[in-house]
Amino acid sequence: MKAINIDDQMVVNQYENYPYPERKPGDEKKRLITGSPSNLAEVNHYVFGGRRDLSKPLSVLVAGGGTGDAAILMAQQMTDLGVPGEVVHLDQSVSSQTIAEERAKVRGLENIRFVKGSLLDVSKIAPGPWDYIDCCGVLHHLHDPNAGLSSLTEVLATDGGLGLMVYGELGRIGVYHVQEMMRKLAPTGQIDDSERISIVKRLIASLPSTAWFNRNTHMEDHKNGGDAGIFDLFLHARDKPYRVNDVVEMVKNANLRLVSFIEPYRYDPLLFVRDPKLKKVISELDNIERAIFAEAYLGNLKKHVFYAVNKTNSINPPTTTSANVIPLLVNQKPEEIAKQIPAGGNISVVSDGHKIDMYVPSLSKAIVTLCDGKKDLNTIHKVIREKRKDLDYEEFMDHFNRFYAVMNSINRMVLRIPSM
Ligand SMILES: C[S@@+](CC[C@H](N)C(=O)[O-])C[C@H]1O[C@@H](n2cnc3c(N)ncnc32)[C@H](O)[C@@H]1O
Repeated sequence: MKAINIDDQMVVNQYENYPYPERKPGDEKKRLITGSPSNLAEVNHYVFGGRRDLSKPLSVLVAGGGTGDAAILMAQQMTDLGVPGEVVHLDQSVSSQTIAEERAKVRGLENIRFVKGSLLDVSKIAPGPWDYIDCCGVLHHLHDPNAGLSSLTEVLATDGGLGLMVYGELGRIGVYHVQEMMRKLAPTGQIDDSERISIVKRLIASLPSTAWFNRNTHMEDHKNGGDAGIFDLFLHARDKPYRVNDVVEMVKNANLRLVSFIEPYRYDPLLFVRDPKLKKVISELDNIERAIFAEAYLGNLKKHVFYAVNKTNSINPPTTTSANVIPLLVNQKPEEIAKQIPAGGNISVVSDGHKIDMYVPSLSKAIVTLCDGKKDLNTIHKVIREKRKDLDYEEFMDHFNRFYAVMNSINRMVLRIPSM
């Protein structure tokens, strides 16, 4: 029998006692939790080049699925769109999985299967091959995250891909100081977990304004997540944050290729550094160097969400070169997003305390209103031309491309290429 190391056991115990994130199954009647990765349109764009035939079965593995957010989101989208296939929720925590199972029941989802066990044993317990694997907030809690990712790539279909999330070191500055203090104040295994939670709450309340945790003003994750959130943030047995370069190394070690970080603009300093001299130097850097620069410049990336495919897979996200390409809004309806778009001018984008203005061209509002996920570029142009007789396709595409560049960079719009 494989020996289990003490930290591994503590991670198991933590999620048995404090399933994370805290979710009430009854809430499924009121709302669907959306997000990245695992928005289906986004997965199609970044993993399948926008060309996935959604009438064919899709196999999805959610590794370390916790209380179910990603599995529920995927299974619900597949149900709503009539995509055949199944979602497997894999986790080693029975109590987390029970919550996920109850949530699925409330929604009446019949396309989720639950497998209990470690993702390190995935090739035995859920061998796939999987078209898409979500692994969010899990690898950084493993003794050997590289081994964890390799286990997943072993069961990935050749043309499949992964949506991953690991913690960002700089954006979580201060969290690790609190973790360090807690190891002194209330070491694991010596004091009851409920007492440790009470001590960390007192510690946070007593910190001076000079403490890094208080200086990191966008770090609010401890405020709304209940005791499970507090435990996950400050008392975790194992929590290894990543810099961009660590992500790049991990992806390379697993024989994967990084397709994109989400949201892309936060990894491209050319979109937010204004000084022309700095911009000139930055423009000579490659994409990875830019992403590394962006992380140091912004300092607020609390997590790194990214899509990756097999190194041998040459697929790239679709482009707007063909008129049959269909733009899709991510997690928003055209009428909701149209309210936020001016008829030409700046939109303000705020992420974790950093605000930038991005210019969108004058046809943006008209375009976004027509992005219903069904109309292609040709159709959108035709509809707009009913009112703007002089608008040829070239001019329309000039507007569309500038608008799309902004919307895609903030992860509000992706593309799909319909199957023939
Ligand atoms: C921080 S929670 C994230 C849950 C979920 N992915 C999400 O984003 O909401 C981490 C989850 O990973 C699970 N986990 C940790 N190590 C694991 C392993 N080796 N195999 C399977 N699950 C694991 C834990 O039980 C826990 O439910």
